[in-house]
Amino acid sequence: MTSDKLIHARNFSHLFSDEARRRKPSPIKTTMAYFQDPEVVFLGAGMPPSEIFPLKAMSIEVPRPPFVGGLARCEDTMVGTLSREQKDLTFDKDVPLARALQYGNSRGQSELLNFLKEHTRLFHHIPYKDWDIITTTGSTQSWDASLRIFCNKGDTVLLEEYTYSSSVEAAEAQGLNCVPMAMDDEGIIPEKLENLLENWTGVYPGTPMPKLLYTIPTGQNPTGCTLSDNRKPYIYSLAQKYDMIIIEDEPYYFLQMDPYCPQDQREAATNAEAKSNEAFIRSLSRSFLELDIDGRVVRLDSVSKTFAPGCRLGWIVGSRHLLDTYWNLHEVSIQSTCGFAQSIISGILNRWGQCGYVDWLKGLRQEYTLKRNWCLDHCHKYLPSKVVTVPPVSAGMFFMLHVDASKHPEFQTTFQGNKALLERYIYEKCVAAGVLLACGSWFKVKSPTSGVEKVNDNTTMSFRGTYASVPPDAMVKGLSILGETLKKEFKLI
Ligand SMILES: Cc1ncc(COP(=O)(O)O)c(C=O)c1O
Repeated sequence: MTSDKLIHARNFSHLFSDEARRRKPSPIKTTMAYFQDPEVVFLGAGMPPSEIFPLKAMSIEVPRPPFVGGLARCEDTMVGTLSREQKDLTFDKDVPLARALQYGNSRGQSELLNFLKEHTRLFHHIPYKDWDIITTTGSTQSWDASLRIFCNKGDTVLLEEYTYSSSVEAAEAQGLNCVPMAMDDEGIIPEKLENLLENWTGVYPGTPMPKLLYTIPTGQNPTGCTLSDNRKPYIYSLAQKYDMIIIEDEPYYFLQMDPYCPQDQREAATNAEAKSNEAFIRSLSRSFLELDIDGRVVRLDSVSKTFAPGCRLGWIVGSRHLLDTYWNLHEVSIQSTCGFAQSIISGILNRWGQCGYVDWLKGLRQEYTLKRNWCLDHCHKYLPSKVVTVPPVSAGMFFMLHVDASKHPEFQTTFQGNKALLERYIYEKCVAAGVLLACGSWFKVKSPTSGVEKVNDNTTMSFRGTYASVPPDAMVKGLSILGETLKKEFKLI
């Protein structure tokens, strides 16, 4: 479809919070459009003089695509200089530091935005015309902004039954009702979601219908599972029917790995590197953006897992009309994403080019595949399969262990059939033995009505582990301690 045939996004201002409706663009900020205009003597806004920013240039040294030897071991590097003044730029796509470190440009620096737009076009085919990108200080802030834009105190958001705890904490602190959506190994179960929405007033009497559906589709935190592409159209149609905004939080999107297969059936090395860029792009799960004929999907992206979390740089993809509202909020909150982060990340990405960045992402897949394989191989080696199951995770940084509490000899006696008590006890035993995993219950979304379990009340307790930055030897040690502890506690030795 050529872009002139594409539709426009719908207007969703009826879903805005009171705060978002009250917020008006600041007149002084509108003057920024003239700041760079050579025809205008700009006396309008209080900008510190960039010629006395105490920085003339910055040098960056980064691995060079195609990252021969692997991301961590690549010795071929490229060096670039980021200059303060436009006239001194050694690379024409750099953001001059005088601009990057100045007020203004709160949507993001154009050199970075242009790269990100092209990158988005490469990976997602958005069916409407007027989509855009705005930079943020990472997905945590993007989510917080989303809550403020769409929700008033007392409103409701849907989240996966197990989810990133800080997303729940942010919503609860704003006085919102967090309602869990049932999920399985393939993510949100659409039939159950439909059932919940159809019977809402019976299940949650007095609680408003949800405005936002928050999902971590790929390599979900904490479960590690990935929402099946087949389920997405059904979920999108529910968002349309019940007029919800879908917020897809995708920090783990590029940590999609080769499928796990047991050690003895595995080829000597992962073949991800050998895949063409087109095959790599096709192998990734699809974004809700691709189904979004209305403009009701807000995608949160971040460099925290593809570069480094301390960059505090992310971006939101959505309809221009929605992003204008984020922009208005940003102008009076974060103002803009840090200029250092933008100029450095933009400098790296533009030097690598789209192909080089895809090489980087393919390299990430390879690194994570090796880490995941090592971890799961040793889970299977050390953990007692009579009581523990380990789903074969295919994206993200986390693996889950499901432990059958009912098989604990004292589950009904000492622990009175309460899996939360046993979970805590096992957690403490593990820490005392020298290995720490997070308790699954820490990530569980509690129903707003008097703590009643509405979703999945069984005897499985879960623990979350990560393989992302655990050295191989430490992983072996940790999992063998865990195996011994579980065998001892479940009287399997
Ligand atoms: C689902 C999810 N969203 C957001 C974040 C934080 O992202 P950022 O560093 O971009 O704020 C995390 C964890 O780090 C996460 O698991």
